[in-house]
Amino acid sequence: MATFEKSGKADPAATVRHAHVIGWGMAVPETVMTNDELSAFVETNDDWIYARSGIRQRYIASEGESTATLAYRAAQQALEVADILPTDLDLIVVATSTPENIFPSTASLVQDWLNAHEAGAFDLSAACSGFVYALNMAADSIRAGSIDAALVIGAETMSRILDWQDRSTCILFGDGAGAVVLQASDVPGGVLSSVLRSDGAGGDLLAIPSVGSIDANRSRAGANGNKLYKMYMAGGEVFKFATRVVSESVEQACQLAEVNISDINLVIPHQANLRILQAAARKLDIDISKFMNNVEQYGNTSAASIPIALCEAIEQKRIQDQDHIALVGFGGGLTWASMIIRWGIPTPSQQQSSVLNRQRRHVQYRIAKWRSRSRRWRRRVNSKVRDFQS
Ligand code: COA
Repeated sequence: MATFEKSGKADPAATVRHAHVIGWGMAVPETVMTNDELSAFVETNDDWIYARSGIRQRYIASEGESTATLAYRAAQQALEVADILPTDLDLIVVATSTPENIFPSTASLVQDWLNAHEAGAFDLSAACSGFVYALNMAADSIRAGSIDAALVIGAETMSRILDWQDRSTCILFGDGAGAVVLQASDVPGGVLSSVLRSDGAGGDLLAIPSVGSIDANRSRAGANGNKLYKMYMAGGEVFKFATRVVSESVEQACQLAEVNISDINLVIPHQANLRILQAAARKLDIDISKFMNNVEQYGNTSAASIPIALCEAIEQKRIQDQDHIALVGFGGGLTWASMIIRWGIPTPSQQQSSVLNRQRRHVQYRIAKWRSRSRRWRRRVNSKVRDFQS
């Protein structure tokens, strides 16, 4: 796959540029919580949860794990598969509703830890649709010629914003991260089309009131009284919204990509609930076997669920060269987003350069720690010197 020279600026005479996925990776916390374990402290049971959602277990971050550490692990894997160096990246976007901080962004932390010092970094907030939004932003920047390589991550620690006394929400969510590397290429394919939508009038159906929240939402208290920094949801309404928009937006994205629904080899939907996926498959008249589904093992990991499902689909060999894949996300905002990708398996690089690149990546990760520390240390020393001089 031919790539482009780093430009930083669009060249109108250049060949048409395409954005291809060339690397992928995922990470989940070490600790698993089964429905039975959950039932020990919430009034619920495995039968109810499984019948209503298809979920059997979820991963829960421990004290030492966070949105950024999960994102970092997924990013390292994605760079490994892509076989590029962190310094080759021009952009890092983390889609998340559970950022490490309001700022600095989770993306900036990952940028620092990777030593990706040529990359811009920012977080994107579009709830469970965030990964498709972020992938679209990165693909557009590549196609416009302003960047050549981007790392797009969906990462969440939903366990930190759940109200563990609210059985209507806490049973559904889990923690994790997934990442892809997108790269410019002159080979047709990759991201073919995207449809991004929002309906802010439905913002009160699914929300996490937080810093700066005016009381518009909280005055209409939901199941948990709409506690600050805790998620609340009108489950039935969200269910109806989700089944409608999944089919609608996949159809729209297919039209834009000039691809028939019957040409879609695999749909990778946001993993919210098995019943939503079954209803959407019926509406689209696509056999449910063409829907990737791993909600049983992970629960709803919000912006992380699509890249995690993508990684598992690749691992299970459910994606072949030239396949058409539909990604579809939906969630808080309300937001929803679909994307059609024509998969182009990257040309494997020479084994020797792979080994060399692996070593160079590991050196860069080690340098990253020292670089970060020395920059902080230099800043402190400079500030002391200035204080002393004034
Ligand atoms: N365990 C046992 N019983 C529970 C329960 C739980 N965890 N949560 C609710 N119940 C009870 C309710 O209290 C209610 O009891 P009642 O009939 O005595 O009043 C009963 O189960 C039915 O509750 P209801 O809320 O009507 O259930 P439901 O069939 O609508 O299922 C959801 C609830 C949340 C599973 C369903 O609405 C849903 O999947 N919504 C979409 C959520 C989603 O995917 N959101 C994320 C989008 S990104």
